Order: sequence, then structure tokens, then C-alpha cells
Amino acid sequence: MPKITILRNGKTYEVAAGTNFLEFCQDQDVPHDFGCTVGSCGTCVLVLEKGAENVSPASAEEKETVEMCTSVKGARLGCQMKVLGDVTVRALD
Ligand code: FES
Repeated sequence: MPKITILRNGKTYEVAAGTNFLEFCQDQDVPHDFGCTVGSCGTCVLVLEKGAENVSPASAEEKETVEMCTSVKGARLGCQMKVLGDVTVRALD
């Protein structure tokens, strides 16, 4: 099972492959900020310190939103990302 490590709280969680990061945070009460939950506000932007290759690819819409809210290379939207393997997540705020 994939493991998600959250740098903000220093915890690591096991999840089923294909878990949506937003749903994981809601289910586990993980401290990560969300707004619209549909990929348009950028509140949930994050960086994968490890495991960038272990998540679903970004859609054109996600890339557009990320570009509007940060210049950090490789940033992703937590509400749009599915976890497929081990990742380490750092919130951008
Ligand atoms: S919560 Fe708005 S883009 Fe993810």
C-alpha cells in the first residue's frame, strides 16, 4: 500500500492505491488547506518532496491553476491528485 508522509505534522499514513489526496485528508483529519475542491482556486497547492512520479498526471486545467498561484516547479493541486505510490507532501503556504 502506498504511504503518504505529511511534513506539516510529521506523520505517515498508509492508503489504498488511487486514493484522492483531498479525500484522504478529510478522512484522516490531515492538516492541509482546501478551498473549491474542484481544481480552480489553488488553495490546496503542494509540492511532492518525494514521489512526484507516484501520483496521477496533472490535467491541463490543473496545470493552468498551478501556474496562476505559484512559480514553484512541479507543484500540484491536492484536490486533483491521486496517490499511486509513496509520496512526501509539503504544503505551499
Ligand atoms: S481546493 Fe481549490 S484548487 Fe484544490
